[in-house]
Amino acid sequence: MTGTEKSDHGQWSSRFAFILAATGSAVGLGNIWKFPYITGENGGGAFVIVYLLCVLLIGIPIMMAETMLGRRTRQNPIDTMITLSDEVGADKNWHYLGWMGVIAGFLILSYYSVIAGWASAYVLKAFTGSFFAADASEIKGLFDGLIASPIQLIFWHSLFMLATMSIVARGVKTGIEKAVRFLMPSLFVMLILLVAYAMTTGSYDQGLKFLFTPDFSKLTGDSVLTAMGHAFFTLSIGMGAIMVYGSYLPKDVSISKTVFLIAGTDTSVALLAGMAIFPIVFASGLEPAAGPGLIFQTLPIAFGNMTGGWLFGILFFVMLVFAALSSSISLIEPAVAWLVENKDMNRKQACIWSGSITWLLGFGTIFSFNIWSGLKIFDRTIFQLLDYLTANLMLPIGGFCIAVFAGWIMKRQHSEHELGMPNTLSYQVWKVLICYVAPAAVFLVFLHVVGVL
Ligand code: TRP
Repeated sequence: MTGTEKSDHGQWSSRFAFILAATGSAVGLGNIWKFPYITGENGGGAFVIVYLLCVLLIGIPIMMAETMLGRRTRQNPIDTMITLSDEVGADKNWHYLGWMGVIAGFLILSYYSVIAGWASAYVLKAFTGSFFAADASEIKGLFDGLIASPIQLIFWHSLFMLATMSIVARGVKTGIEKAVRFLMPSLFVMLILLVAYAMTTGSYDQGLKFLFTPDFSKLTGDSVLTAMGHAFFTLSIGMGAIMVYGSYLPKDVSISKTVFLIAGTDTSVALLAGMAIFPIVFASGLEPAAGPGLIFQTLPIAFGNMTGGWLFGILFFVMLVFAALSSSISLIEPAVAWLVENKDMNRKQACIWSGSITWLLGFGTIFSFNIWSGLKIFDRTIFQLLDYLTANLMLPIGGFCIAVFAGWIMKRQHSEHELGMPNTLSYQVWKVLICYVAPAAVFLVFLHVVGVL
């Protein structure tokens, strides 16, 4: 094995461990909760195509770049950006990139944890048989009741944050590696079974048509931005999460192959979720544009009416919570790694600090569904604002900067060496994507949204 030097914060035990952790980070609420509801809000097929293009042309090259930057320095994202920009004598402003990532991580986790709390609450609802023989309006009532109650939301959010903090305190390698190894494949199988159920609803064709037949007249500038933002969100890129995971990656692992595998799995999970959900939406006369409650208002109908649905419902929501956990730990790991490596804290203290800040921030999202639902900033509730600010702005801006840094600032021989494909065609394709295509695409989408283009 070449280059076995250890970073301060250790190394994955194998390529497979990294794949599990990075897939765990990528596959989460973004795939199962967010992708279907934003697809529903943005008119279906055309939105899905833009999203897929963004994953391929922007997401994958940037994910490779991020992994590579982290692995080169074997440090947390803040120090990675400092070390790498000083190495080539680049502008000091590059130092801020790591910081923006840490802040984005806090902001995302603050609402991610609230939604993961919904999923946790649904484990209990499934267990107590609340979905049994329920129709669409009863299921909607359950959901509306949950989000109207600040106390319940605070309880579940707190529980989820505690779980996240205790896993991260022990180190991302232990525990999560084992859990994800078993849970990810199970989640995948469950989704396939749900798709099979969706085929029996009588609206399968209509669901698939919605998902895969593009109608470009439904696409607005903001939909394109949302699709692009979601490509970043779902792959966990643009804020340092993949960078910090890359920093634990052994030197002899092929970054490109690994990234393709992760992105492919992530995309399949999202598409399967869509194929399970939209037929149920149409069969039950629901609105595709129902918003963030979409999966909570559709899947329980399936569980309540299918044979074995009780057990199936429990298992599904348990797995959704685990998928969310393996993502949430990557949202706070950059901050924790930085605190441990710079502030003389142990992992436990670092987790308590960063976890408490996120936990408090989460109250903004909780109240935006009930007592503060009338409070609008830039025409958005606090939850909507946080989501827009992070997924649609901070991640694409972070990703843009990572692309420019990896493509233009970093020395060519360094990226060639780190990606392990000197002067091959694949390297050249990556180079074109990272230098021109990805940054230009992000820039053009922004110009379009502000109305210049
Ligand atoms: N990708 C995860 C999901 O789809 C969420 C996530 C985890 C994330 N880490 C991230 C998003 C870092 C952006 C950046 O659910």
